[in-house]
Amino acid sequence: MAFRDGKIGCAVVGYGPTFNFGGMHCKWIEAVEDMRLLAICDRDPERAALARSEWPETVDVSQDLDEVLARDDIDMVSVVTAHNTHARLVIKCLEAGKHTIVDKPMCITIPEATTMIEASHRAGKSLGIFHNRRHDGNVRAIKEAIEQGLLGQVFDIELSATGYWHPGGDAWRLRKEVSGGLMYDWGSHAIDWVLSMVPSQMAEITGFFYKLMWPEVTNEDQTQAIIRFENGTCAKITQSTLDYAGKPLWRILGTEGAIVDGGGGAIDGYCKEVSGPSGGTFTLINSEGRKEMPYKESDWVTHYRDVADHLLRGAKMPVSGEDGRRVITVLQTAERSSKEGRSLVPEYK
Ligand SMILES: NC(=O)c1ccc[n+]([C@@H]2O[C@H](COP(=O)([O-])OP(=O)(O)OC[C@H]3O[C@@H](n4cnc5c(N)ncnc54)[C@H](O)[C@@H]3O)[C@@H](O)[C@H]2O)c1
Repeated sequence: MAFRDGKIGCAVVGYGPTFNFGGMHCKWIEAVEDMRLLAICDRDPERAALARSEWPETVDVSQDLDEVLARDDIDMVSVVTAHNTHARLVIKCLEAGKHTIVDKPMCITIPEATTMIEASHRAGKSLGIFHNRRHDGNVRAIKEAIEQGLLGQVFDIELSATGYWHPGGDAWRLRKEVSGGLMYDWGSHAIDWVLSMVPSQMAEITGFFYKLMWPEVTNEDQTQAIIRFENGTCAKITQSTLDYAGKPLWRILGTEGAIVDGGGGAIDGYCKEVSGPSGGTFTLINSEGRKEMPYKESDWVTHYRDVADHLLRGAKMPVSGEDGRRVITVLQTAERSSKEGRSLVPEYK
């Protein structure tokens, strides 16, 4: 792989207003020694103008993706656009001969994910999924506690983002045909956390999806995916706008202890800083009582550092197309299970 000056020339597509997230990709790329940001692309003239004002002249800003893809010095493109555009834009970038990173969720359907993976193989270019929130301070601390055996054998994991509110506005995130559904946004992080923590294949998925309120919003009001793993672990991921009772973000049971975490302070500074000091603790409960355990640092630059290690030094892609497709498999299979009223064996385990 020949990279100019040994650095990966990068472009970011999508410089959106909602979380300034395309802007964050630019900052993370710039924070990696082995990467160089060369271009930003947003088809919206206002966003393109903002990007021009925020980045020096050495970063080219364009409204036309074809213009960006025609450049020989761009090795890698990061796609940071609405969910229903991911498959089409990623395939376009791969076919133009660019390594491609796409923000979560990888796409909306399993066949789309497979087509993206096949496009990457055909082009001989890498495809990676930006599940950077594996590096949140609380997630890193919880994972470490499990790996150190503090819970004994983990057999039950619950992740919940629930509350009671009317999702308002006309954002694309609320429109199922663009977003994929309620669970595709936060839920795709939660599913990735679970899949990256449980060292087992999935055996069966059960979904409970509800559309009972908020008629002007086409996303579901509550969605739940229950995963039975082949090693016996059960994971329940719930997202709801109809929950007056509330639940902790994380609740993990093991044979020798349990973890409860509300996530408070874990991602302070997210979408502003490249990394975060994450003030906060999770609760470890065992035979000795309850103990507050400090979060680790939130270290979101790591994702692109690991991508650079993959492209330059042959390390494993941190989250591959196949990893991303497992997340999409849970999302789509849970919905199908809910419609059919039965548990289903996932196509990709
Ligand atoms: N990893 C995370 O923690 C995290 C956080 C926020 C958002 N995201 C993800 O980032 C992605 C984008 O979300 P967002 O909130 O930034 O959306 P957004 O709507 O704010 O921004 C999307 C931008 O993409 C531009 N765009 C769309 N199609 C384009 C095209 N063909 N060429 C050029 N520009 C195009 C739009 O003009 C818009 O400015 C989503 O996948 C979302 O889930 C991830």
